Amino acid sequence: MKLFDVYSLFDVTPVKAKDCYVWDDKGNKYLDLYGGHAVISIGHSHPHYIASLSEQLQRIGFYSNSVKNPLQEELATKLGQLSEMDDYSLFLCNSGAEANENALKLASFHTGRKKVVAFEKAFHGRTSAAVAATDNPKIVSPLNTGHDVVFLPMNDTRKVSEVLAGNDVAAVIIEGIQGIGGIHIPEPGFLRDLAFLCQKHNTVLILDEIQSGYGRSGMFFAFQHAGIHPDIVTMAKGMGNGFPVGGLLIHPDIKASKGMLGTTFGGNYLACAASIAVLDVINDENLIANTRATGEYLLNNLKKSIKTAQVRGIGLMIGVEFSENIALLRKHLLEKKYIFTGVSGINTVRLLPPLTLTKAHADVFMQAVQELVDST
Ligand SMILES: Cc1ncc(COP(=O)(O)O)c(C=O)c1O
Repeated sequence: MKLFDVYSLFDVTPVKAKDCYVWDDKGNKYLDLYGGHAVISIGHSHPHYIASLSEQLQRIGFYSNSVKNPLQEELATKLGQLSEMDDYSLFLCNSGAEANENALKLASFHTGRKKVVAFEKAFHGRTSAAVAATDNPKIVSPLNTGHDVVFLPMNDTRKVSEVLAGNDVAAVIIEGIQGIGGIHIPEPGFLRDLAFLCQKHNTVLILDEIQSGYGRSGMFFAFQHAGIHPDIVTMAKGMGNGFPVGGLLIHPDIKASKGMLGTTFGGNYLACAASIAVLDVINDENLIANTRATGEYLLNNLKKSIKTAQVRGIGLMIGVEFSENIALLRKHLLEKKYIFTGVSGINTVRLLPPLTLTKAHADVFMQAVQELVDST
């Protein structure tokens, strides 16, 4: 049987990884500035993570959500403490799209409405409501077009205010930092306006922190830089350091009822063991402080050294936008300098490394880019 051919692949086969490094089947060692698409938060193959998952698997790997699972409670407690959102409730699922799908559904249940406001360049996932709120017609099938979604420009409070004035919007959904759209940070004042307007019009404010959350911005969630309290926060990528897990944090004003949401695999023992281990390591190794310090160093030095690019971001979520196509630059970074990077569109290099990245790693990357840029 062949694989369904939907991914453009680099000619690399990783077989081993440790902290910020990945090795391929030929023994080449790569510096990972991509984190497997913002997923590797605590570094590859962290010993505490491996031990937690292995020990859990020896005990019990799976049952169902029809029995008590104290690991879910432990995860909720630790997540509440570290994110400073312990008055919210946790619903666990399996991926980012599923988190947003559930968040939009919950907003619709809560308000009895179905209209959604999303933003230009947004990406929220590939399930039906999530992809309808994603600003990329190429991945929206006819089946997904029945949703009532309005796309507005980011940072335009007046336009949001006009649409919400109809009092018929279930949810406003926005990324804490736009990732796939090219690393665009909403203005803190705009996020505060959204929070105010949503409260005024009984609309649910959903912060998609699937890429920008879990410490990546230098705070637990990126929206916390603006000091707001959203109604729902969605999470995935960094949450399980590679184990598939997603979740929603739900404001106490939104009430649960039995059967309202549900999942077979969400919150299983292994997902919880992985997620608890991630929180333990983030806490014990001060990874959020490291993200702030290394991120600032990388961002400031990139701005100084790469004069031909626009550099933006915060923490370890950084975009380097060139005026030309960067396909060759990324290929050379991978094949000549052995560095993995991400991409947004055709001319932005996207950096989403493990939160354990050091200034020495950052120096290696900056020297490599400088050499490649100078040689073209
Ligand atoms: C901001 C954001 N939301 C949602 C998703 C979808 O997550 P998943 O691929 O786990 O479904 C992504 C994935 O890249 C994302 O970056």
